[in-house]
Amino acid sequence: MRTPSPPRPESALRRLLPEPSGPVDPADAYADLPAAEGRPGLRLNMVASIDGAISVDGRSGGLGGGADRRVYLALRALTDVVLVAAGTARAEGYGPARIPGQLAAGRAARGQAPAPRIAVVTRSLSLDWEGPMFADAHADSQPVVITSAAAPADGLRRAERAGAEVLVAGDAEVDLPAALVALGAAGARSVLAEGGPRLNAALAAADLIDEICTTVSPRLVGGGAGRALDGPEPRPGGRAMRLWAVYEEEGFLFMRHRAER
Ligand SMILES: NC(=O)c1ccc[n+]([C@@H]2O[C@H](COP(=O)([O-])OP(=O)(O)OC[C@H]3O[C@@H](n4cnc5c(N)ncnc54)[C@H](OP(=O)(O)O)[C@@H]3O)[C@@H](O)[C@H]2O)c1
Repeated sequence: MRTPSPPRPESALRRLLPEPSGPVDPADAYADLPAAEGRPGLRLNMVASIDGAISVDGRSGGLGGGADRRVYLALRALTDVVLVAAGTARAEGYGPARIPGQLAAGRAARGQAPAPRIAVVTRSLSLDWEGPMFADAHADSQPVVITSAAAPADGLRRAERAGAEVLVAGDAEVDLPAALVALGAAGARSVLAEGGPRLNAALAAADLIDEICTTVSPRLVGGGAGRALDGPEPRPGGRAMRLWAVYEEEGFLFMRHRAER
């Protein structure tokens, strides 16, 4: 397996497309998520190896690096809500989002809460209710649990006791378009989806992804690791994706694809 090259001393994010420029601040470069009609704009952020693997030993951390972390934090800092599937929240041990210094100042200047809310999509409600996602949530960033009418009643009671806002959308699976409208009604203008693959496929099938940010990590992983989408194919007639911008830092490529309007 190839190991990432050491960081260049002058390391900084530079734009390769649409025209080369650099260095660029990711908080500025990514501040242009378009608004959507009747719901918050939705951006999906994923990291994958050169050969398309989205995890190493069941988690995404083995694909990351300093440059990826900076873009990941900038995207979190720009959003009102981080949307995550329960499978990923369980695998990655999700806690509340923490936004460091300069990025937090940007949120305050835009009138946003100090941190985005975490919204977990789950049918089973099998979540760690005593874990950091609920126990350590910032007072201004109440966690959200998005579930369906099929959710078990005792899970709903536990979610409320854990301090979560519960949104019920859909009968069996979560109705994602309705969930996004509900997040918008609760004040969100932008949503950052962080996976995983089954949520991503459902979002794509419903044509809800306005922008996909893909970090290509300079690693080969092989094995049986999954891809960014696992589920039904995007429906015919959905919006096509077009390359919007490409950046590079420390050997990581950062691609942005936008849904055509
Ligand atoms: N490379 C990356 O950027 C990245 C990002 C995220 C995740 N990952 C990796 O992805 C893996 C986890 O994947 P996963 O297969 O568990 O998929 P997932 O999409 O993370 O989670 C699937 C679970 O989320 C809930 N869910 C998703 N869509 C739903 C819907 N429409 N309605 C109701 N519930 C829904 C269900 O939870 P319940 O079972 O609770 O009902 C379902 O079992 C981990 O290895 C993680 O590291 C990688």
